Amino acid sequence: MTRRDRIASSFNRASATYNDAAQLQTLAAQALAAQILSAPPHNPRALEVGCGTGGLTHLLLPRLPGHWIVTDIAPAMIDSLRQRFPTLDAQLRSMDGEAPDLPPESLDLIVSNLAAQWFEDLSAGLARLGHCLKSQGRMVVTTLGRASLEQWKNAVAAIGHQAGTPAYPTAEEVRAMLPGASVTANTLTMTYGNAGEFLKSLRTIGATVPAKGYQPLPTPILRQAMTQLGAPCSISYEILTLDWTKP
Ligand SMILES: C[S@@+](CC[C@H](N)C(=O)[O-])C[C@H]1O[C@@H](n2cnc3c(N)ncnc32)[C@H](O)[C@@H]1O
Repeated sequence: MTRRDRIASSFNRASATYNDAAQLQTLAAQALAAQILSAPPHNPRALEVGCGTGGLTHLLLPRLPGHWIVTDIAPAMIDSLRQRFPTLDAQLRSMDGEAPDLPPESLDLIVSNLAAQWFEDLSAGLARLGHCLKSQGRMVVTTLGRASLEQWKNAVAAIGHQAGTPAYPTAEEVRAMLPGASVTANTLTMTYGNAGEFLKSLRTIGATVPAKGYQPLPTPILRQAMTQLGAPCSISYEILTLDWTKP
């Protein structure tokens, strides 16, 4: 099984529980929707990548009518979206956002909330999505930045090990991926009763696949890291918002 298949399976399994623990994603979706709706294109041909259960979708589609293609790599997430918002006017289908099977220069708008951090190669994925945009088309995407999960990474490092958190890019690195893009960083901090609750929240939303090649920590080491994190514990997420208009 490839890492991509494992990511899709993990989100498929989590499709029924995702909404119970998606507070971070909801906050990010609200801010992203406001940014997109501040300059909405008229009747766009639009794509959403990594829709999940529709956290961003339901905020945008009723306010931004157009021809929407709403996609995710995990079919069960799309089924969950369909059940949650049965009246949304969109073509719903599974698609790997890193390899969009859409014609070049066919879209006016691409949006995505907290899905691109799962791409194997963010730069190449964004470039391929960019090819699907028409000139003057806009891509507005949130992803995780380098400073995300710092407290967990520090707790694991303090006991002499490395966390399985992928090496997310800095804002400067994302800016360099699409010349002319604006990339803003915003930190959201979530508080959990203890480390067990934090790790359970990741499982509940399906965010379980570690960095490529990472060997999970043996249980006794994991327990030490959880104790090191303390209780209650705060975990910060650096949300990078990329906003790019194609020249
Ligand atoms: C953290 S959830 C975010 C879902 C939704 N956008 C939201 O705001 O609640 C990440 C979503 O990205 C999807 N995903 C991961 N890798 C993907 C890829 N390569 N292409 C498309 N979707 C992907 C997952 O299946 C999952 O539904």
